[in-house]
Amino acid sequence: MRKAQGAEAAFSDGFKHFATHAIHVGQEPEQWPSMAVVPPISLSTTFKQCGPGEHAGYEYSRSGNPSRNCLEKAVAALDGAKYSLAYASGLAATVNIAHLLKAGDHIICTNDVYGGTNRYFRRIAAEIGLKVSFADCTDPENLEAAITPSTKLVWLETPTNPTMTVVDIKACADIAHKHGEILLAVDNTFISSYFQRPLALGADICMCSATKYMNGHTDVVMGLISVNCDKLYERLKFLQNALGAVPSPFDCFLCNRGLKTLALRMEQHFRNAVAVAEFLESDPRVEMVRYPGLPSHPQYELMKRQCTGCSGMISFYIKGNLEHAKLFLKSLKLFILAESLGGYESLAEHPAIMTHSSVQKEEREALGISDTLIRLSVGLEDIEDILEDLDQALKAAHPEFTARN
Ligand SMILES: Cc1ncc(COP(=O)(O)O)c(C=O)c1O
Repeated sequence: MRKAQGAEAAFSDGFKHFATHAIHVGQEPEQWPSMAVVPPISLSTTFKQCGPGEHAGYEYSRSGNPSRNCLEKAVAALDGAKYSLAYASGLAATVNIAHLLKAGDHIICTNDVYGGTNRYFRRIAAEIGLKVSFADCTDPENLEAAITPSTKLVWLETPTNPTMTVVDIKACADIAHKHGEILLAVDNTFISSYFQRPLALGADICMCSATKYMNGHTDVVMGLISVNCDKLYERLKFLQNALGAVPSPFDCFLCNRGLKTLALRMEQHFRNAVAVAEFLESDPRVEMVRYPGLPSHPQYELMKRQCTGCSGMISFYIKGNLEHAKLFLKSLKLFILAESLGGYESLAEHPAIMTHSSVQKEEREALGISDTLIRLSVGLEDIEDILEDLDQALKAAHPEFTARN
């Protein structure tokens, strides 16, 4: 049973052997001539062949690299998958998935997704002949209604960025698969493999931006895809090489190292985020908190069903207007005003002006990405310092509230 207190205790135990797999799978010292315990960084771009076409598993670093292979094996274990593939960024992984389709094929994307995903589907995929429509998949009936004979891919993100809405992966997978060969892909970035395993819930593809929690140290841009189907893997592996957006061996080394503490980090992100969400929820200077680990979240029961916990991502609406939001963000001292998320350090941002500025204004408004919405990535600092910083910034934004109630 979880030892955590409060809201965290309501979630079930995590996946069996997760921390052990993160440390050992794919990392066997015997695979290196030196028997190095820490996997070496294999920088060579090319590999000696014994005869033309006779090689020992590697030919050229874009098509395969020992440092990448070592990372991919660990990630597959963490996603409960047969295979995993690493890419130069989360968006590169998304593009590779879209390349499974051909002109005329139809994609249904849930309507609240990362701004870059929205931009790619709306402004690029659509321009090269893919038909893309957006549907609010929080109600699986909307997904069913959007399916056409040419639908080939359903794209979900859960919890969503930035409104922290939860989508029922299993319900959507059942609908997609009922209608033939439609692939269901889930962007798992906001929660990581530690708390959510889309493949076990029926998804065909688990994708994430490893730039966030999986690496966790804000020093690598990378994407990951995990799948179970042999045919799908072969096609993606072909595309990974053919499209060429592979990560560097050094980035693979760093991300692989980051995975070693993923379990510990996620538990602490969860603990700190619950404390922050509870603090904000009881604060008169805050209009509303969006955190799926709080019982007040409208999809808390679904979250408990499909996840074993919750990450450090919280969104909230500050009382007032854009000026209050800006003043709050400028007054933060410990939280850093920056895009991205999932690192050890606490970050804050304004989605409407920063991460989601590429989403059309009307669309942003319909989704609730308003001027007063603030997104926090709660880091691993001491919780007293985190709460003190939020409190002083709220005071600066709302001096008329003299004391916290
Ligand atoms: C949910 C989500 N998916 C995908 C991406 C894209 O990942 P990357 O920045 O690694 O390309 C991001 C980036 O912020 C994200 O938040």
